[in-house]
Amino acid sequence: MNKKIIFITGATGGMGKATAIALAKMSHTVVIHGRDDGKAKEAVNEIKSASGNPNIDYVTGDLYMMSDIKTIAQKLKAKYDHLDVLINNAGGIMDKKREVTQDGFEKTLALNVLAPFLLTRLLIGHLKKSEQGRIVSVSSDAHSLGAKPDFDDIEMTRRYDPMTAYGNAKLYVIWLSQLLAAELAKCQSNVTTNTLHPGAVKTSFGSGSNLGWFYNIFSKLARPFLKTPEQGAKTAIYLASAPEVSGVTGMYYVNKKVSKTSAKYYSPVNMTRVWEYCYLSTKKWVDAE
Ligand SMILES: NC(=O)c1ccc[n+]([C@@H]2O[C@H](COP(=O)([O-])OP(=O)(O)OC[C@H]3O[C@@H](n4cnc5c(N)ncnc54)[C@H](OP(=O)(O)O)[C@@H]3O)[C@@H](O)[C@H]2O)c1
Repeated sequence: MNKKIIFITGATGGMGKATAIALAKMSHTVVIHGRDDGKAKEAVNEIKSASGNPNIDYVTGDLYMMSDIKTIAQKLKAKYDHLDVLINNAGGIMDKKREVTQDGFEKTLALNVLAPFLLTRLLIGHLKKSEQGRIVSVSSDAHSLGAKPDFDDIEMTRRYDPMTAYGNAKLYVIWLSQLLAAELAKCQSNVTTNTLHPGAVKTSFGSGSNLGWFYNIFSKLARPFLKTPEQGAKTAIYLASAPEVSGVTGMYYVNKKVSKTSAKYYSPVNMTRVWEYCYLSTKKWVDAE
């Protein structure tokens, strides 16, 4: 089997860690990301002992902070001469009250969209050095159930609620991947980019967010019926490692199968507006490289 160098964001717990363990068992070099040093070291030890693979590494950084994302990319580029797979896994839903990051971005957008967008921009050169680079981004079915984007107000300063912010963010993740796939195909790049919905999975997802009494009760009642992190991780593992998807790009997967995305808000103009917003918002941290 071709051994890969794989980087996974948000892999100290939940589906990220389950993905890391499965890929480590396949003998790939797995670099996990976490935001807490102690938690990351603990996860590295757990992944090593669960897989028997000593080639497990970590980097830390807060994905709410653009400067941290830049540092993460710099560390990876300094240590590894190429990258085979980037798994943009970290993500989450926020609170009822709109909050912004230190850089001034709404937090749902910052974590789920701008962070993977910037990381991908900073690491694309390293992925192109791979025999067949892959970008795998975790989206969600919430892109079709919860999205209601206002393209004049991507930051949701006028009307914010956490479910809509999350739905919008996961829709943008899909669109940005599709646009990048088209760009990469134009220059006959060896890098592919795909997105996925993992299913409804029992992780820490949403546990720190107060979404209102209805969602709080609903999510507690639903927990026994949710997938395990190992089950939820299966599609990400497949897209990162399966030989049969090496030429597939710009797709959205559910249960390891290509699935349709919501066409409700789709238009090339809307897609371009989102791309331009992300491009301009992250430009400063790319130019200063
Ligand atoms: N669970 C579901 O039902 C479900 C359904 C559809 C899609 N998803 C998506 O699946 C992905 C994985 O989520 P999960 O369910 O495994 O949830 P999780 O257990 O909460 O994992 C989320 C990961 O993101 C990290 N993270 C959050 N904020 C961060 C920040 N500011 N900087 C750095 N890392 C940060 C978390 O790190 P800490 O441990 O430090 O907080 C954690 O490792 C997410 O993109 C989520 O949106 C989940």
